[in-house]
Amino acid sequence: MSKQGKINKITTFSIQKMKTEGEKISMLTAYDYSTAVLVDEAGVDLILVGDSLGMVILGYDSTLPVTMEDMIHHTKTVSRAAKRAMVIGDMPFMSYQISVEEALRNAGRFMKEAGAHGVKLEGGREVAEAVMKITSSGIPLMGHLGLTPQSVHQLGGYKVQGKDDKTAKRMIEDARILEEAGAFSIVLECVPAPLAGEISRSLTIPTIGIGAGVECDGQVLVVNDMLGIFEKFTPKFVKKYAKLNIDIRAAIGQYIDEVKDSKFPGEEHSF
Ligand code: KIV
Repeated sequence: MSKQGKINKITTFSIQKMKTEGEKISMLTAYDYSTAVLVDEAGVDLILVGDSLGMVILGYDSTLPVTMEDMIHHTKTVSRAAKRAMVIGDMPFMSYQISVEEALRNAGRFMKEAGAHGVKLEGGREVAEAVMKITSSGIPLMGHLGLTPQSVHQLGGYKVQGKDDKTAKRMIEDARILEEAGAFSIVLECVPAPLAGEISRSLTIPTIGIGAGVECDGQVLVVNDMLGIFEKFTPKFVKKYAKLNIDIRAAIGQYIDEVKDSKFPGEEHSF
C-alpha cells in the first residue's frame, strides 16, 4: 500500500484540499472487481471506470460503441470493490449530447444504479448546460478537455490538441467555463505540457493529466496500459510499471505444460 493508503474515504472535498495543499492526485482506471480491489487497496485517490473499456476490455477500435448498459455493468463491479477511492463513471458517447434532460437522467443512473460517486463527460462550452444541470442536481462531475476520444473522427485521429494559439486559447476558456458550470476537476488529455500547466494554474479546481505533463494537479493512466496487459498499441504518454503480459503468458504456458504432463493437479490440490 502507498503512503497515501490509510486516509479516509476520498470525496470532492479531499480532492480539492489536495490541490489547495499542493498534494498530487492519483487516478487510475479499473473495469472489474478484482482489479478495482487491488487499485483501491494500493491507495489510489480516484478510480475512473473509463469508456476506454470499449477498447481494452470489449475489443472495439474506439470508445464510440460503448453503451450506458456496458458502463453501468462495469461501474457496479468497481463500486463494490472501492472502499476508499472515489469512483467516477465515464458517460459514454451519446449519453449526454442529445439533451440536457437525457444527460441528467444518465448521470443519475451512474449514481443510483451503479453506485458511482461522480461522473465524467467530454467537451467544453458545448456541454456547459448539461454540466450545470448535473452538478446543480448534486452529482459531482469531472470534465475532459484536449483529446476527447469520443470526437476522434472530428479531430482526425488521436492527436495532441491545443498546439496553436487559437485552440490553446479556446481550451483555456473551456476550462474556465467547466469550472463555472460546477465541475470539481478536469481531465486534460494529450495537451502540450506548458498549456496544461497554464490551465492548471488558472483554475481553482484540480486538473488531472494524461499526456499533459507534470504540472497538472494529478495524473491518470489506463490500468491495463500501465500494467502492460493491453498490447494492441501504446501511446507515448504511457509508462509501463509492469510487464504483466509476459508474466501472464508464462503462467498460462506453464499451466498448459503441467496439465499435458499430468503434473497438475498435485496431491495438495486434490481431495
Ligand atoms: O476512458 C478513459 O479511460 C479516460 C481516461 C483516459 C481519462 O477517459
